[in-house]
Amino acid sequence: MNRMADLIRAAAKARLNARAAHSGFKVGAAVETRKGKIFTGCNIENATYGLTVCAERVAIWKALSEGESEFRRIAIVADSDVLTPPCGACRQIIWEYCGDIEVLLANLEGKRARHRLRELLPHPFDTRFLRSHSP
Ligand code: THU
Repeated sequence: MNRMADLIRAAAKARLNARAAHSGFKVGAAVETRKGKIFTGCNIENATYGLTVCAERVAIWKALSEGESEFRRIAIVADSDVLTPPCGACRQIIWEYCGDIEVLLANLEGKRARHRLRELLPHPFDTRFLRSHSP
């Protein structure tokens, strides 16, 4: 079993459910827990635009709301020649809830790349700053 290929497949399948009527840009994501469970998400847009939620966050919210807290990797699939990386907001969320996990990027033609989140978010703001601050 190739777990990376499985995760990318799951993200590609979730992408088909994207609600991307405004941008036309469909994204799928799949996050894998340490124990190998997979949670998927797709982007869900809204006519106000600002309420749009990215595929990565949908997948992570689903996993967190089911009680998961330890993650190994996340896959992101979109139909772009240059592989689609997570947006800045999603990088923050991945860092806070998943830590320095592996980020797999893929397109529909089978192009793939692997990163660590730390490469994509080298100097993160996180809860350490809140703890070191005394009001
Ligand atoms: N989008 C994602 O879902 N994930 C990304 O990594 C990049 C952007 C979505 C948000 C919006 O629905 C559409 O792609 C265009 O920005």
